[in-house]
Amino acid sequence: SIHTNYYYTDLNKIKKRYKPISKFSHKGTQGHVLLIGGCYGKIGAMVLASQAALRSGCGLATVFIPKCGYEILQTATPEVMVMTDENYHKITNIEFNLQPKSIGIGMGIGQEEETTAALYHFLKENKIPLVIDADALNILSENSEWMNLLPKNSILTPHPKELERLIGTWEDDFNKIEKVKSFVKMYHLVVLIKGAYTLIIDDKNVYVNSSGNQALATGGSGDVLSGMITSFRAQGYSAVDASLLGVYFHGRTADIAMNDMGYGGFIASDIIKYLGKVFLELK
Ligand code: APR
Ligand code: MG
Repeated sequence: SIHTNYYYTDLNKIKKRYKPISKFSHKGTQGHVLLIGGCYGKIGAMVLASQAALRSGCGLATVFIPKCGYEILQTATPEVMVMTDENYHKITNIEFNLQPKSIGIGMGIGQEEETTAALYHFLKENKIPLVIDADALNILSENSEWMNLLPKNSILTPHPKELERLIGTWEDDFNKIEKVKSFVKMYHLVVLIKGAYTLIIDDKNVYVNSSGNQALATGGSGDVLSGMITSFRAQGYSAVDASLLGVYFHGRTADIAMNDMGYGGFIASDIIKYLGKVFLELK
């Protein structure tokens, strides 16, 4: 077995990695995020991810979505810029003339054949730091030879089922971590294992997140997390720091919100609402 250091990320560890936003920053220096995803009936994933990105401090956010999402996005979030695929229902051809600092891909994207082909062509050309989530992970699982197309230091954010599709089944937690570690080393990635204690795994370390609770067991909370991590990546954080901050902030919103409501009353957009409170705690 490969040697591993385990760390527990609490507020003090996060404070050490967090860089306050400079007095002289502007939207051009705070990082431009591009989020690619959505399909008919799952545009909400992109609303959540893009709002979460902006609320995490990036300067600009653009989404690339199928045409059916255009008015939804522009109405729900006027701060977000919208680019559309030529197809109404799904993504079929990923083309944009931007230079974002990071790209998050997969939230609500679906697994249609044309979407799968579009993802392949995108991965073949792309060199911008990536956060890969949801059905983009499932598509990668079914086309594992495309893993070699990912830029180094890409971040993968699977929940346990998505992870199983990527790396196969495991015997126990130790075996799971060993398998993820060799996967991470092989492709130079950061991989999350999402759950009650989300693990963030890079080539040397396993970080155990300390924040969060069962209020996060609600549809869309993963999409919010992907938007947040993509945002931190665009702001210049390394893959592992962006992941650590994203996961900690995400969980912490739910901890703070439990002063105002019970577990069941919390929905994914509440994560976004409470983000500002987490930033206050870093002072
Ligand atoms: N305690 C702490 N955190 C939790 C708990 C819990 N009991 N339950 C869930 N969470 C957190 C996870 O750690 C993760 O960050 O909520 C988030 C859930 O993420 P996902 O499982 O990805 O859920 P979500 O993205 O909202 O689900 C819908 O995901 O599976 C895909 O294709 C699916 O796009 C769809 C989307
Ligand atoms: Mg998810």
